Amino acid sequence: MDETTKKKLVETAIQAASRAYAPYSKFRVGAALIDARGAVFTGCNVENASYGLSVCAERTALFKAVSEGAAEIKGLAVVTLDAPGFCSPCGACRQVIHELARKAVVLLASRDGTWEETTPDGLLPGAFAL
Ligand code: THU
Repeated sequence: MDETTKKKLVETAIQAASRAYAPYSKFRVGAALIDARGAVFTGCNVENASYGLSVCAERTALFKAVSEGAAEIKGLAVVTLDAPGFCSPCGACRQVIHELARKAVVLLASRDGTWEETTPDGLLPGAFAL
């Protein structure tokens, strides 16, 4: 994935974060991914008054992509608007990223548009898989 595509993915994730439904945590997260055909899918965190039902931005984007027939996922950007640094994906999202975006470059972005790169294996070494 070239730098222009990475930058665009980060910007798209920042836009997605602005759509977060996070009235409880007030911690808005956005994710954007791109597949092998260049299709882009986005997600935000969607919380619920029954807190445990909340879904993270990464899983929203990944489940949208799979359910809409995405090709192999090549890149995934994650960002929060409500902290200065990058948003480190939670354990549940790491497991799902590892399974559904195994070959992706993962961009842990900050709201200023900068990012650090990692991989699903980097996020979850020794991941459980069947
Ligand atoms: N959250 C995400 O969307 N992604 C992460 O990787 C970490 C946490 C959300 C869940 C919850 O809505 C809020 O951030 C605070 O935990």
